[in-house]
Amino acid sequence: MKPKVLITRKIPENGIKMLREHFEVEVWEDEHEISREVLLEKVRDVDALVTMLSERIDAEVFDAAPRLKIVANYAVGYDNIDIEEATKRGVYITNTPDVLTNATADMAWVLLLATARRLIEADKFVRSGEWKKRGVAWHPLMFLGYDVYGRTIGIVGFGRIGQAIARRAKGFGMRILYNSRTRKPEVEKELGAEFMPLDELLKESDFVVLVVPLTKETYHMINEERLKLMKPTAILVNIARGKVVDTEALVKALREGWIAGAGLDVFEEEPYYHEELFSLDNVVLAPHIGSATYGAREGMAELVARNLIAFKNGEVPPTLVNREVLNVRKPGFE
Ligand code: NAP
Ligand code: GLV
Ligand code: GLV
Repeated sequence: MKPKVLITRKIPENGIKMLREHFEVEVWEDEHEISREVLLEKVRDVDALVTMLSERIDAEVFDAAPRLKIVANYAVGYDNIDIEEATKRGVYITNTPDVLTNATADMAWVLLLATARRLIEADKFVRSGEWKKRGVAWHPLMFLGYDVYGRTIGIVGFGRIGQAIARRAKGFGMRILYNSRTRKPEVEKELGAEFMPLDELLKESDFVVLVVPLTKETYHMINEERLKLMKPTAILVNIARGKVVDTEALVKALREGWIAGAGLDVFEEEPYYHEELFSLDNVVLAPHIGSATYGAREGMAELVARNLIAFKNGEVPPTLVNREVLNVRKPGFE
């Protein structure tokens, strides 16, 4: 009998097709997130799960799923999963690194450029007919924004995506500063990037891009104190997780001009609405679409399938997150 996998949302067909050859596949077809109640009910007889970053996978889920042996998260970030609890119970956790790195790095740049050059404000001005109504074709002082080429970018979290963002910054002739837990001498050489303590990076940068995982250490890492260190002409881009930034502090910073603008792909709660933040002209907003390209999402679907199929064949899944689980139980459904 084939093992059973529940996929908690429709993912690109290429991954589902691969999985059908090896698994009995159930897909949650609703556009909305599977409710907690239904999830807890449905996991009762599954051997494997494909989850989204919006689902909390914790002790309660593991308790409800006595047969569950592997969870393949359809995301690179896995802050939605209680890793310690999974490892303890011998449940394998995998994620989707690399395949979404370039798409997400591109999106960081979309936000950076759109915020610096006020693209959304300008688009609204043209689209609404306001430009035509104003009757001014071109004005030397109209929609002035900030220079990007040759300025300083500070990347907080210098992993796969952070480094991909830096590669793009090279083309913009930028000085590249970074902060991460460990220094990266090789990449420093390759990209001419300089390591800097976070507070100094914030003081020096014209553009600060956040691309750290959400952990106990990074929760509200950007708070009032740190926003005050930034230049009044600086722009903050958050492509990481909403909770890395204290939203109320950010609103204050934007309102009072401690910083010039913000480009945000992620929010403290999702979906999100914040009346004051969303009424500000100097923010560019996106609904968590960092990896939302056809290519990246297909790559993620394939990687999810490869992880589950490898596990079924008794092999270590290619992008296993909790390696310690190898000491708890061997891969495979037997
Ligand atoms: P990664 O390769 O693991 O890189 C994470 C980097 O963050 C590493 O360089 C790590 O430092 C650093 N870091 C961790 N804790 C830190 C701390 N306390 N202070 C400073 N740096 C710290 O991960 P990735 O593939 O680049 O992805 C990064 C994150 O981006 C994901 O976890 C996810 O939350 C987010 N993401 C968002 C989207 C989106 O749609 N918006 C898409 C993809 C990913 P070390 O190298 O020294 O360990
Ligand atoms: C998206 O946010 C991811 O972590 O893949
Ligand atoms: C602007 O369009 C210019 O030609 O400078």
